[in-house]
Amino acid sequence: MLKELDTILTDALAAIEAIADDSALEEARVGFLGKKGRLTVAGAGMKDVPKEDKKAVGQKLNEVRTAITSALEEKKAGLVAAQDAAAFASIDATLPGRPLPQGGLHPLTHVLDEAVSVLRRMGFAIAEGPEIETEWHCFDALNTPEDHPARNERDTFYFENGKLLRTHTSSVQIRTMEKVEPPVRIIAPGSAFRRDEIDATHLSAFHQLEGLYVDKGVTLADLKGTLEFFFREIFGSKTEVRFRPHFFPFTEPSFEVDLKLQATGKAAKWIEIAGCGMVDPAVFDSVNEARKDDAYSPEKISGFAFGMGLDRLAMIMYGIPDLRLLIENDVRFLKQFV
Ligand code: DAH
Repeated sequence: MLKELDTILTDALAAIEAIADDSALEEARVGFLGKKGRLTVAGAGMKDVPKEDKKAVGQKLNEVRTAITSALEEKKAGLVAAQDAAAFASIDATLPGRPLPQGGLHPLTHVLDEAVSVLRRMGFAIAEGPEIETEWHCFDALNTPEDHPARNERDTFYFENGKLLRTHTSSVQIRTMEKVEPPVRIIAPGSAFRRDEIDATHLSAFHQLEGLYVDKGVTLADLKGTLEFFFREIFGSKTEVRFRPHFFPFTEPSFEVDLKLQATGKAAKWIEIAGCGMVDPAVFDSVNEARKDDAYSPEKISGFAFGMGLDRLAMIMYGIPDLRLLIENDVRFLKQFV
């Protein structure tokens, strides 16, 4: 039997040596080590081996099994290495790599980043508020009367529970003053929603940047200086800025801000860009009432506020003719801003 085992080993090693692919390898494994394999069959002969030889034959059987197993493993590793080498042979590792497609920032994000970085340099901190707002924060506290057109069901998205999608980010003014005492100097970038018919200059979801500064002795001169500086940082130091009297419920006096801008190849013209004004004392009264103190007493402090549309700012900065381009996610459009 010892001799038979030697023969099996010699045959197995020779067979494995000659193997050139995975299926032949599997065939050899089954042929020698499988249930009906030669070694297994030979092993079954153990029962006929005389008692005194059992130990030696058993040992031999194990040696042969180990030797065949490791020869099979070695062959397997060799085959894998050969397959890898063949796969790599057709690759020229010295060729320059192919660039991976890379995303970029949305034009609105560029505009927002730029606006925020200028205002942060002036000491404005970022504040936030919910997009689903109470009527009180969106309208009442901002001195907007019950019958104001903006409060109409046709202009504003209302929920059944009486809450609404904020129609402007001015509600963050109230949210902030409820929480912190003056001085406050915040900007609130964020989404706002109106039931507008969608066209080249209107979307039902858009973006605004609100600003609020409240402190002792804040004046209209501070407001003008701040916004002039801001717009000149964005559009160039020679940009003309004009404050045109206007009306907003939450500011008094109120203004619209126009910039004199020149699109390439066109004559310069005044473009409306923002609303602003001195915070109406009625707004401070509402805040005090909610806070149950007089931290915002109009006797002690004053403030200015401003708000502008970021989508509109992006249209002007990049010469984008149609707002809808900002939400269509057409890569041919977006690629231009990377
Ligand atoms: N909330 C106004 C709007 O959505 C913009 C605005 C105007 C904000 C004047 C202000 C402001 O803070 O003082 O059209």
